[in-house]
Amino acid sequence: MAMAKSVAEALVEASAALGNEPDDRRDAARLLGHVTGLSRSDIIAHPESLLCSTHLIELQALIERRRQGHPVAYLIGTQSFWDLDFKVTPDTLIPRPETELLIEIILNQSNSAPKTIIDLGTGSGVIAVTLAAARPDWSVIATDASIEALRIAQHNGAGLRNLNFVAAHWLACFDGMVADIIVANPPYIDPLDSHLAALVFEPQSALVASDNGYADLKTIIHQSTRLLANDGYLLLEHGYTQQDTVMREMRLAGYAPTAHWDLAGNPRAVMGHRKETL
Ligand SMILES: C[S@@+](CC[C@H](N)C(=O)[O-])C[C@H]1O[C@@H](n2cnc3c(N)ncnc32)[C@H](O)[C@@H]1O
Repeated sequence: MAMAKSVAEALVEASAALGNEPDDRRDAARLLGHVTGLSRSDIIAHPESLLCSTHLIELQALIERRRQGHPVAYLIGTQSFWDLDFKVTPDTLIPRPETELLIEIILNQSNSAPKTIIDLGTGSGVIAVTLAAARPDWSVIATDASIEALRIAQHNGAGLRNLNFVAAHWLACFDGMVADIIVANPPYIDPLDSHLAALVFEPQSALVASDNGYADLKTIIHQSTRLLANDGYLLLEHGYTQQDTVMREMRLAGYAPTAHWDLAGNPRAVMGHRKETL
């Protein structure tokens, strides 16, 4: 049986087992916090507190799985996004910080008038839930083709009365509806992209799109013109090499597109304004 250790000793050991890079130390601290229920500030304030042997064994098992490549978010079952914590499972993409750009654009762009928003491919629900929580007078619809992902999004959005969920392939079931904003972070990775090798634990249906990664972006641009209100907006996240093509596709569909960059300076999103003449 493992001997009791202080949280400081356990953290040093876990960080070293992962490689001791800054990311490894952060991962070790998240796993330690998950196992013990201690916050980061608890760990810093009381490094001498003892970890019981059950927690130590649990931590060692999680560290081993992390060493095998399992993402921390799946190991602990949550990921923070904007100002909330979201349940995530291997059925959902792990929300990325760069997707917060979409929230920033929508909240900065929009006046306070009530709006109808559709979040396509909601995954764990991060975009829809964050917007619904930030703007209780907006009506938000979250959709996904994956029923398993939609269940997780429903869990994350529980209690928000301005949020509804629909299982759908992009905008196929929404004829007759009018939306003020359509937002999506669709799959956009080329099936041959070498980065996919590092993403094997996440659902490939959330990541990969045919046509060099453009198939879903193009489908959404095309379908959205039927639903967006005049003066409405289509906001799409895309890969960092895809901005010119997304801008061009949006112009072809009659949108006036604006380019946006993430905090790392990468081209990351395009916002299309639907002009009155469409
Ligand atoms: C890149 S993930 C984005 C998840 C979440 N919005 C986020 O930003 O973390 C793309 C999502 O699109 C969904 N998806 C893939 N193909 C779809 C389709 N044809 N119709 C609707 N959703 C689809 C996937 O299940 C996945 O949840």
